[in-house]
Amino acid sequence: MAALQARVAQAARVCVLTGAGMSAESGIPTFRDAQSGLWARFDPMQLASEEGFRADPRLVWDWYAQRREGVRRAQPHAGHVALADFARRRPGVLTVITQNVDDLHQRAGLLGTIRLHGDILQDQWLSPSRHAPACDLAQAVPGRPPRCALCGNLVRPGVVWFGESLPHGAWQAAEQAAQACAVMLVVGTSGVVWPAAGLAAAARRSGAHVVIINPAATEIDGDAHEHLAGPAAELLPKLLMR
Ligand code: NAD
Ligand code: APR
Repeated sequence: MAALQARVAQAARVCVLTGAGMSAESGIPTFRDAQSGLWARFDPMQLASEEGFRADPRLVWDWYAQRREGVRRAQPHAGHVALADFARRRPGVLTVITQNVDDLHQRAGLLGTIRLHGDILQDQWLSPSRHAPACDLAQAVPGRPPRCALCGNLVRPGVVWFGESLPHGAWQAAEQAAQACAVMLVVGTSGVVWPAAGLAAAARRSGAHVVIINPAATEIDGDAHEHLAGPAAELLPKLLMR
């Protein structure tokens, strides 16, 4: 750990990619944990795809409303705080890319996080090209889901669903950060969903030292130089210490 602490302390640029495991110790369920994972209990294509939403808007809206309540109850843990402290101590060095749709990095005080999969606390129009300029999301008629009074457009959660492209700007910024860093920490992701799963290999190809922080093996262990087997809330504060 001491050698890695020194490497992080001396790195001109550090990139951190986080996944659902980064929020696990804050009480937000991951997706693929065999017992507690969301996809072990729910059908992702029914609840996290546009087709599923169009087939049963109320079911999907209610499921996200329940997940939003869980996010609001959750609190950032020592790992989130360690990242925010590091960013304050060493301005311009850290870039955090997250697959998570919660706001725990932000609530820990971390600014400028690259959000690949959107924000569960935000709403957006289901058919953005259809609504008229006069349609105001804030004026949507309340409901499950809310609906535009002018054009009938449905409101959906502001997250990236299966089969959808990532926000173009976010993906470009993530690729650039991965290719420019000296150290990449890959925290709390199983590495099964693309294109986020390709960022560790991209960093390695560009000469970064890649470290996985995860209690379990991942699909992208082969892209890393080392794997710290343990929880984010314990290992990140040790690694990023002053
Ligand atoms: P996918 O396989 O459909 O790919 C997602 C997007 O990334 C597609 O536009 C695809 O063209 C692009 N892509 C795939 N491989 C790429 C690569 N190597 N380089 C650049 N771009 C690449 O992904 P998916 O599993 O269907 O999910 C779509 C996205 O939605 C994923 O990022 C997933 O994590 C996200 N998602 C979010 C939630 C949620 O609740 N927030 C739930 C499910 C999925
Ligand atoms: N600390 C670090 N890692 C942890 C912890 C912890 N305390 N607890 C669990 N993990 C690890 C698990 O071992 C697993 O490898 O977090 C990972 C969570 O993996 P997934 O549930 O697959 O979540 P993620 O990799 O973020 O999924 C990617 O898939 O469904 C889509 O859009 C969704 O962004 C998500 C994407």
